[in-house]
Amino acid sequence: MFSKEDKAFASEFLDRVVKKLTVMAPEIGANFPTTLSSIGEWDPKGTKANISGWTTAFWPGMMWLMYLKTGDEMFKKYAEGCEEKLDEAFDIFTGIHHDVGFMWSLSAVADYKITGNEKSKARAMHAATILAGRFNHVAKYIRAWDHSSLRWAIIDCMMNIPLLSFATSIQEDPRFEQVAEAHADTVAKHFIRGDGSSNHIVEFDPVTGDVLATPRGQGYDSGSSWSRGQAWALYGFALAYLNLGKQEYLDTAKKVAHYFIANIEDGKLPLVDFRAPAEPVYYDSSAASIAVCGLIEIAKAVPEYEAKIYERAAMKLLRVLDENCNYDPNELRLLENASSAYHTPNGMHMPWIFGDYYLLEALMKLDGNDGRFSVHK
Ligand code: GLY
Repeated sequence: MFSKEDKAFASEFLDRVVKKLTVMAPEIGANFPTTLSSIGEWDPKGTKANISGWTTAFWPGMMWLMYLKTGDEMFKKYAEGCEEKLDEAFDIFTGIHHDVGFMWSLSAVADYKITGNEKSKARAMHAATILAGRFNHVAKYIRAWDHSSLRWAIIDCMMNIPLLSFATSIQEDPRFEQVAEAHADTVAKHFIRGDGSSNHIVEFDPVTGDVLATPRGQGYDSGSSWSRGQAWALYGFALAYLNLGKQEYLDTAKKVAHYFIANIEDGKLPLVDFRAPAEPVYYDSSAASIAVCGLIEIAKAVPEYEAKIYERAAMKLLRVLDENCNYDPNELRLLENASSAYHTPNGMHMPWIFGDYYLLEALMKLDGNDGRFSVHK
């Protein structure tokens, strides 16, 4: 159980974030703020985003969380507006890929769970069907991206598979969760290393399922450890445990968490890559906010005497995240110092909307209500 002091800090932190987002929301409305790493710019009004891009649902997801927190219809209106705009991505189709889980869990699933909107349920089922269709039944992985090799799976996809649990819960049809479980088993076996770190990408033979290579991805190098990838693994396996109920997934989430905790320094954000050279120093605040969400879920899932390890780490990261928030009401940005990838200088130390989303989700968890957009049990 988090201490009274920790809860008080988190509650004041949430108040600061809510105040800032209440100022930002009318300026942004039903749009998609994110950093455009192609030009190295934060798009504060969210009008320039690629509608098929993987980051489009983080703002509507934040609007749903703000609606849950405040009851203010303004936030609901912006979330619904974004969800409708996202239909264009279904129409185009070719731009979307394994990230349909991020895109429609935080928009349509959230809407359906909060309002019961049948159209949102249909959108979520549509997205889940697309995701399940990317599963290779022989090699047992969900194929990542479309621009890349058809042989690749990536650790980030652990965050997409909760959408398959949503689909199973809606249709009482085990097929979707069978795909989720098979993919998670493959990831546990081939991505998570003995020390608890994770590969970003694993390349499989799509016919035999043999592992062929572990390409570099967004970290420093193959064999290093991109911190956001570690955070996706940490939170992704915690969510897999909550949805699919296998103890092995909680054990995996804990193992990754132990590695993550061992690699964070007091008072500092996580490095972009925990195994990069000492210089230059690059940080990623988004890895911290994602990890905090996972640490909170692990703390809730383990016996009381174990929980402190994860609670302490979550609070340590939250205090650093607070120092990295921009509370200036005249600037349309919240969490600073998120980074897209080790070798992408244009995306380094910027606001990235997924960092903001998971920060708000973490604070909402500590406030007793995170919306459960990715847990369907
Ligand atoms: N899922 C892509 C990323 O974390 O950058």
